[in-house]
Amino acid sequence: MIIIGIYDDHNASACLAIDGKIVFAAQEERFSGRKNEESFPRKTVEYILKEYKLKPEDVDEVAIAGRYHSFIDLMIRKATVFTVRDYIDEMENYWKPRLSGQSFDKDYHISLYKAESRFRHSEDLYEYPESLQKMEGMEQLEEFNRIRTRCIASFIGIPEEKVRYYDHHSCHAHYAYYSNPRQKDETVVFTIDAFGDNRNQVVWKVHGDTFTELAESRECELARVYRTVTLYLGMKPYEHEFKVMGLAPYAKEEYAQHVANELKDLIRVEGMRVVHNDRPADLFQFMKERFKYYRFDNIAAGVQLWLEDISVQLLKNIHKETGLRNYCFAGGVAMNVKLNKVLAEQDFVDDFYVCGSSSDESLSIGVAYMAMRDKDVKVEPLSNLYLGPEVSSEALASVKKNVNGRDNVKVTEGVTNADIARLLASGEVVARVAGRTEFGARALGNRSILADPGKPDVVKQINEMIKKRDFWMPFALSLLDSHEEFYLKNPKGLQAQYMANAFDTKDKDYERIRSGTHPYDRSVRPQVVTREMNPEYYDLINEFSKLTGTGALLNTSLNLHGLPLVSDPYQALYVLENSGLRYLVIENTLFQWD
Ligand SMILES: [Fe+2]
Repeated sequence: MIIIGIYDDHNASACLAIDGKIVFAAQEERFSGRKNEESFPRKTVEYILKEYKLKPEDVDEVAIAGRYHSFIDLMIRKATVFTVRDYIDEMENYWKPRLSGQSFDKDYHISLYKAESRFRHSEDLYEYPESLQKMEGMEQLEEFNRIRTRCIASFIGIPEEKVRYYDHHSCHAHYAYYSNPRQKDETVVFTIDAFGDNRNQVVWKVHGDTFTELAESRECELARVYRTVTLYLGMKPYEHEFKVMGLAPYAKEEYAQHVANELKDLIRVEGMRVVHNDRPADLFQFMKERFKYYRFDNIAAGVQLWLEDISVQLLKNIHKETGLRNYCFAGGVAMNVKLNKVLAEQDFVDDFYVCGSSSDESLSIGVAYMAMRDKDVKVEPLSNLYLGPEVSSEALASVKKNVNGRDNVKVTEGVTNADIARLLASGEVVARVAGRTEFGARALGNRSILADPGKPDVVKQINEMIKKRDFWMPFALSLLDSHEEFYLKNPKGLQAQYMANAFDTKDKDYERIRSGTHPYDRSVRPQVVTREMNPEYYDLINEFSKLTGTGALLNTSLNLHGLPLVSDPYQALYVLENSGLRYLVIENTLFQWD
């Protein structure tokens, strides 16, 4: 059984599942080199077909996550191209008149498309005829689906019947549940996001393979409010919400509470649903008015506090109604590691699993799980997230050739993990490209910048090497499973393999890992590494541990500010040539810049 899973909206991705196992998954941005591609993931699908030598007749189904998409967002690739200025202009010139009942420009986005070439994308798979642009409502959504089906089927060379659509939140839920290597007999799966197929919050009870939907809402504004605050603070919606979260711990709780109070009447929890209370039509204008006297850090902390309060109330109600103590969480809001920490710490929670990169990018995996379950195929959980392309020997050879003869680059072959560990232990910062690239938003060691987390000035050093990095953002930590007990407070023994939860740290060895934690609240967003998950990376940290006694490395993503995580050796070389980094190890070859 061969399924290709597709997510073709913002942060597009594709996945390949064979006989119940997810064998490949990647985001389109890794191939295009442009962050947050909002399109059919054409390059990723081409890669899958080529690498796995698939003929059209081999493919049993192309499963699409999301029944309906607004064509206009895909046509202009809003999430990819819009700048903060574009979003604010849209708020002021399109949404403000529209939401206040004034006359507004219905063709606002089509005018952008016609006026500026950056909104037109020649590599688009889908067609956007004038007739589609003139339609409205369901008629338009259904016509766009006919176009999607036709274009996908002809691109892959399969009959249209093999292209099937699945509900957005159900895909989140299937990923959350089936990716979990420690599935429980009875579990609550719940999802919260900004919007997908007309819902933004759903609760299921899962027993064995049976999903029973308990509640749903289209009025849960947690993600939308958070996204609007992100924009209000001058950062990019759909992308920089994690920066608001990173800023939150710097404020005092008293000030955060004032801001949270400004938001408290917007929505309320009613049973297992979050619903509107006194929700203004225009959230952006509401924030401009309410937040004008508050400082940026207090706003960040206030919205975080509000998010946590509502979510805890919701989880308490879910527990009260179901009596269950095991939870799986997915959707964009599950990317908020600070919230996950608060939820997981509730006394009625025994287990709290957050899937890796739970936002919409992982829907291609979710839909593949869903399509397989739909056909009664037994599915396997994920044992790791190293699901992307591996380092090709041609690309490595080409990078070697590229730097050959340059005076300022020294190339050493046959480098071992012990050699790299010695560099790290001596205080150097090393970029590592090895094995298959990790799926999702977090670098998990294979496309990472690594350093000694006990080195006091290393945060400043990396921030200066990677220009424009946000000064308040913490780094993350990869640690050996054998050392988890020394560094993390994890009394419930929660899984922490994907940097999807935050934890408090222990005092005793804190100095050893300080630079891989949040400097203000000392929390950490860890990747606990087991040998099975990634033997080579485990071995590197282990070698570092032998030299220093620290079983952990500071880990941050290998990319330049505003660009996606690197995938191949060419992109890695580009980062090294445009940053202050000096060491790059690709598999067993070390490149050293003067
Ligand atoms: Fe979603």
